[in-house]
Amino acid sequence: MIMIATIESQFNTSHSQFNTSPAILLDPERKSLRVEEFEEKLSGLVIGQERAVRSMSSFYQIFLAGMNQPDHPLGTLLFLGPTGSGKTHTVEAAAEILLGERDVVLKIDCAEFQHSHEIAKLVGSPPGYMGHRETHPLLSQENLDRYQTEDTKLSFVLFDEIEKASDALWQLLLGILDKATLTLGDNQHVDFSRTVIVMTANLGAREISELITGGIGFAPAHVSFNTAETEVERKIYHTALEAARRKFSPEFMNRIDKVVVYRPLKEHHLQQIVDLELRAVQDRITHSVGAKFVLQCSDAAKEMLLREGLDFRYGARHIKRSIERFLVYPLSSLIATGQMQSGDVVLVDVDRKTGKLAFMKYAGGSLVDGTLQRASKVKSKDMRTQVVTLQFSRAKDARNGQKGPAA
Ligand SMILES: Nc1ncnc2c1ncn2[C@@H]1O[C@H](COP(=O)(O)OP(=O)(O)OP(=O)(O)O)[C@@H](O)[C@H]1O
Ligand SMILES: [Mg+2]
Repeated sequence: MIMIATIESQFNTSHSQFNTSPAILLDPERKSLRVEEFEEKLSGLVIGQERAVRSMSSFYQIFLAGMNQPDHPLGTLLFLGPTGSGKTHTVEAAAEILLGERDVVLKIDCAEFQHSHEIAKLVGSPPGYMGHRETHPLLSQENLDRYQTEDTKLSFVLFDEIEKASDALWQLLLGILDKATLTLGDNQHVDFSRTVIVMTANLGAREISELITGGIGFAPAHVSFNTAETEVERKIYHTALEAARRKFSPEFMNRIDKVVVYRPLKEHHLQQIVDLELRAVQDRITHSVGAKFVLQCSDAAKEMLLREGLDFRYGARHIKRSIERFLVYPLSSLIATGQMQSGDVVLVDVDRKTGKLAFMKYAGGSLVDGTLQRASKVKSKDMRTQVVTLQFSRAKDARNGQKGPAA
């Protein structure tokens, strides 16, 4: 009773009418361990977009508690904001964590479904129509359920660029959001109640890009945000939301559980993304059919990859390109020319003279200098050191059987 009295002093209502046993104050803010673990993993993969991460984890919590609204998708989210800021990536990363693979997200690029025959690709044609038997509708129950696991019976559907949806696709989408069900051409019903539906829109893209570059068109790649960055973020938020309200009917906006406006990524976010992408390159190496080696990039090499990919207008998109161009392509040449063997440790650094990436490796436990300019001059006193030229432009030499100068 003392406990009730203490708690009651905080509230307007009398609680003693419910029970005589002491009332225990509950904490609805608390997250389950599985949700916490999911949120932690997701924020490790999706950098700088805490709101998006939280919105995903709240649906997961609802799913785990079995509290989803009946006849309603598990969640309907609208993602807005700058290009390359992680909208698509968030959904793929969530799928990877919960279902084991990124590409299990059912993606519908709305711009591709403009005409009625294209809509048939989504829902199939009615019986009797030409091609009825051949068309396997993309939005079938089978496709939705295909990647669910014993543990996690949910699916992700992504409608990209919904502002480009035709009227027919729009009607279809409204139906799904409203009743969590879709009727296919052959009258079968598809149940979306265990589906997280994410829609993305690139509304206000031009204004957002101008806000990011300070309205000066092309921002020099090396210029980072200054103290006005929170103001820019705020403006981007309002620009995106207003554009969405102008474009979409209240009928549609009311069906959405959460609208998330992505922030433009800052330099320190992009730095973390370089690290993430390098880990992804290591995974590619580890799972490739070729030589499986360990990749180590120096801070200078990471810095160079960041500089080459830094263009705030495109978020992390150019980071990926920079890594492909300056790192993955040379590595592929080195693998293809047999300069690397499984078990090697490959070091990537910046050559001070050229400013380019230099590749070296430890082979058989010894450091092997891989830059040709230096390698040709190396006269090792230590006969255990085997010098292997790691020079990706020398593919032709390698084909001719030249392995580079030996120590
Ligand atoms: N916040 C982020 N955290 C980690 N990686 C990111 C982030 N944003 C972007 N990336 C990386 O950049 C790539 C492109 O991002 P993504 O496809 O998610 O952009 P988007 O916001 O969907 O852009 P668009 O509006 O052009 O479709 C991703 O595959 C991912 O590797
Ligand atoms: Mg996208």
